Amino acid sequence: MKRSGLCSESFQVRTFEVNDLYRVMTINFECLPENYSSYFYRDLYTRYPETFVVAESDNDIQGYIMCRIERGFSKLRTFTPTRLLHVVSLAVREPYRRKGIAKKIMLEAMKKGLEKYQTNECYLEVRVGNIPALKLYESLGFTKTKRNYGYYMDGEDAWVMAKSLTNEEALKDS
Ligand code: ACO
Ligand code: ZN
Repeated sequence: MKRSGLCSESFQVRTFEVNDLYRVMTINFECLPENYSSYFYRDLYTRYPETFVVAESDNDIQGYIMCRIERGFSKLRTFTPTRLLHVVSLAVREPYRRKGIAKKIMLEAMKKGLEKYQTNECYLEVRVGNIPALKLYESLGFTKTKRNYGYYMDGEDAWVMAKSLTNEEALKDS
């Protein structure tokens, strides 16, 4: 039974397809001040298709996550070379929030990052004032590892948050 009356509670998760591009760009414009060219989305999709994930509900895409695979140093352990899953952007349309969509697509991207690209750590930047996103990442076991002062165009700081992916148990409920 529907709780809100308007939006379905159920959703399906699948990997992004090129035909989804316009819809994903629209959701990004609606939800975030950080916007990108269509080339940027296509490039991430071409290079890392498995970790570009969308959620469908009511016959349309309502949320997305896109990531980049990087070689770098662990955010959690000093001087430890690591393959990193970098969450570049994540958003869920407003009427479809608090239904578990973001959590599910985060878990799916982390599972794919581990299985398909052998990444052993996930990280991201988030505005220090973005309470919903901070709560989401904390609920998934991310920890704040660094504050990047003036990271965003408008001067707001970012928290860098990271989570180890080597404990597969943590990704089991995805
Ligand atoms: N207040 C408090 N806790 C919250 C909130 C909130 N508004 N939203 C999510 N959470 C926490 C809760 O613990 C929640 O579990 P619960 O509902 O059982 O309490 C848990 O996160 C999972 O929530 P979901 O339903 O999976 O999250 P949702 O699908 O609503 O999406 C998101 C969360 C992506 C942050 C959404 O609010 C959004 O699109 N915001 C605008 C765009 C944005 O901020 N994107 C992230 C930017 S950072 C980046 O892209 C790397
Ligand atoms: Zn980033």
